[in-house]
Amino acid sequence: MRPLRFATASLAVAALALPLMTGVATADPSPDRAAAPHSNATFDRLRAAAPEGFVVGTAVAGGGHHLSQDYPDPFTYDREYRKILARQFSSVSPENQMKWDYIHPERDRYDFAQADAIVEFAERHDQVVRGHTLLWHSQNPEWLEKGGFSKEELRAILREHITTVVGRYAGRIQQWDVANEIFDDQGRLRTQDNIWIRELGPGIVADAFRWAHEADPAAKLFFNDYNVESVNAKSNAYHALVQDLLAQGVPVDGFSVQAHLSTRYGFPGDLKDNLRRFDALGLETAVTELDVRMDLPESGVPTAEQERKQADYYRRALEACLAVDGCNSFTIWGFTDKYSWVPVFFEGEGFANVMTDDFDRKPAFYALRDTLKAAKKAENR
Ligand code: G3I
Repeated sequence: MRPLRFATASLAVAALALPLMTGVATADPSPDRAAAPHSNATFDRLRAAAPEGFVVGTAVAGGGHHLSQDYPDPFTYDREYRKILARQFSSVSPENQMKWDYIHPERDRYDFAQADAIVEFAERHDQVVRGHTLLWHSQNPEWLEKGGFSKEELRAILREHITTVVGRYAGRIQQWDVANEIFDDQGRLRTQDNIWIRELGPGIVADAFRWAHEADPAAKLFFNDYNVESVNAKSNAYHALVQDLLAQGVPVDGFSVQAHLSTRYGFPGDLKDNLRRFDALGLETAVTELDVRMDLPESGVPTAEQERKQADYYRRALEACLAVDGCNSFTIWGFTDKYSWVPVFFEGEGFANVMTDDFDRKPAFYALRDTLKAAKKAENR
């Protein structure tokens, strides 16, 4: 039985009666997807299907998905989106809304409006929150990157930021991605593009964890990165760093793999073994940003075989997490292609999420649901 560490999905959300969705995919090659696209029964919800103590999360769309056109903020204006967000998931991660450029737009001004709205939404729907992120090389505001600050000033700025942001949500965030993507793919610390490490040295990473822990002793503090699903140079670098920090008494609680996968490449078959070696260090582990992109055929519509392969990747990622005792948080990076970051970043690729633009469920959705159900059944035996 998994340890029950936090509040899990409540069936109370069943009280929100969701009318049948009427959206129909323009082209639907998949019989699986067409079979039962609109069921909203409790048994058809990921959060309800999950074993006790295991949360199923999604990123909360935070803009930047269609750079050429303006569109209303999904979390605020897309009612269907919000309903599914509440019904399906027991954990939420702000996609962008807690990043520096959103939450700390000027040196002396924080803007908590969007982050507050997500945390409040989560509490109303009995969801936990993953905070993302405190120390990163990307999405930092210009005032910070181009401010010409002295080392002392930068250290004070980071400390104040962490104390303010983590402190504001103390007791309300289950896991924080304290340090995001601090190594490159060769396992070298980002000493050039990460302003904190470049200007203040690697020791600043330990300080970030210490300051976050002071501000919220209950939050679990994570390293988070991409391309660390397998045992490789990058994940080895984390494995070594974490041991070093733990030996120094630095409050590191977890290691998480983002899992931005592509069907162009093979599935990282050693994901479970990799998570297990971090588990063996006494850390929690998590899958935090899973999506599975693919090359779109000229028609723009994936084949049934592409959808099957995608579903297989989703299923295997979930199975790997379920197989590790301390992996109790499994998050997909958005649930609908409508608000996916992928097409903006990877030309010609997309269809990475478990629902279509119209919220129709793909085989990948059912793969997650059925895998969760099987795990729950096995635990109840
Ligand atoms: O802030 C501007 C805004 O002023 C402008 O109006 C708008 C439209 O042009 O763009 C806005 O910035 C966008 C930003 O999202 C917020 O909306 C950026 O162009 C866009 O590049 C940015 O993309 C985000 C990306 O992180 C940036 O690194 C994605 O939405 C987000 O999904 C992605 O998430 C990251 C995780 O944080 C870390 N792991 C990898 C993952 C995928 O890249």
